[in-house]
Amino acid sequence: MTQPLLVVEHLTKTFGHGRTRATAVADVSFSLAPGGSLGIVGESGSGKTTTARMIIGLERPSGGRITVRGEDRTRPARSARSRRRRGRDVQIVFQDPYTSLDRRQRVGDCLAEVVGVHARLGREGTRKRVSELAGLVGLDDRQLAALPRALSGGQRQRVAIARALAADPDVLILDEAVSALDVSIQAQILNLLSDIRRERGVSYLFISHDLAVIRQVTDDTIVMRHGAVVEQGPTADVLDHPSHPTPVCCATASRAPDGTRDPHRPTLTRSRAMHAPARAAGPPPSPSPPPPPSYWPAAPEEAAPPAPEAPAPPTR
Ligand SMILES: Nc1ncnc2c1ncn2[C@@H]1O[C@H](COP(=O)(O)OP(=O)(O)OP(=O)(O)O)[C@@H](O)[C@H]1O
Ligand SMILES: [Mg+2]
Repeated sequence: MTQPLLVVEHLTKTFGHGRTRATAVADVSFSLAPGGSLGIVGESGSGKTTTARMIIGLERPSGGRITVRGEDRTRPARSARSRRRRGRDVQIVFQDPYTSLDRRQRVGDCLAEVVGVHARLGREGTRKRVSELAGLVGLDDRQLAALPRALSGGQRQRVAIARALAADPDVLILDEAVSALDVSIQAQILNLLSDIRRERGVSYLFISHDLAVIRQVTDDTIVMRHGAVVEQGPTADVLDHPSHPTPVCCATASRAPDGTRDPHRPTLTRSRAMHAPARAAGPPPSPSPPPPPSYWPAAPEEAAPPAPEAPAPPTR
């Protein structure tokens, strides 16, 4: 049997002290095979990002263990060398990359810096690699020469993805990383991720509210609720036949990653309709509709359709 690449065992995180103490992640365990792709879904506040932050080393676990290729990485890296090595093991892309981009550094320089940290390619080799990465995520020369503030949200997201790929990681965590992209760029990025997975065997941990995306890019999925894993298994089983008592319901027409509308692809996110009781012809609607599926996101702001990329600021 193949040795798992990433193993998370009984991971726990509590924040605060005394009366403010709250458990964000409670006894979470899962593993990710080399070249595998695992989805993490769950309602807002269920502990998905906190789990990801612990894996990448941005948050210290209160309990449990994280190993990559059998090597313990529960505790922070001690040396710059080991931090660099860990950077090649696992990279993460967050939903809003603006905070993690250096506002004074041009995009091309930012990518060149990461390429330089992880590979000695020389000046010309680095330039080629930066241009290759930019091409992969659809950034042009003008955007490479720009500062992050001059880019739209979607363009910044592509910079963050290119920067993560620049480290050539074994595990890439995407925390709602494609949610804000317009549908054609989202399709391009998802296809790119599939290609990279096939060619390089990169493993993905894919956190998303968009179950159509989860279905497309993951083999297995875990569902989190109140910090714990409440469902775990092959993605199709988890999404179509959850053993949790809440039904998977309310498929709505959605855009397929190629940009076409596909009424058979459920988007169990971004749709207020999914929380509405089914409208059947005939009997009047029940006065007390059944509660919505417990682990689907309910926040109205997440239920809105994806915002188009902001237009470039006007030039004077
Ligand atoms: N630094 C922190 N200090 C205190 N509480 C925190 C901190 N970070 C997260 N939490 C809490 O931990 C819980 C889980 O948060 P987390 O960000 O992991 O949720 P999530 O599943 O990623 O939600 P979303 O889908 O909205 O992104 C939340 O209740 C949150 O308020
Ligand atoms: Mg989150």
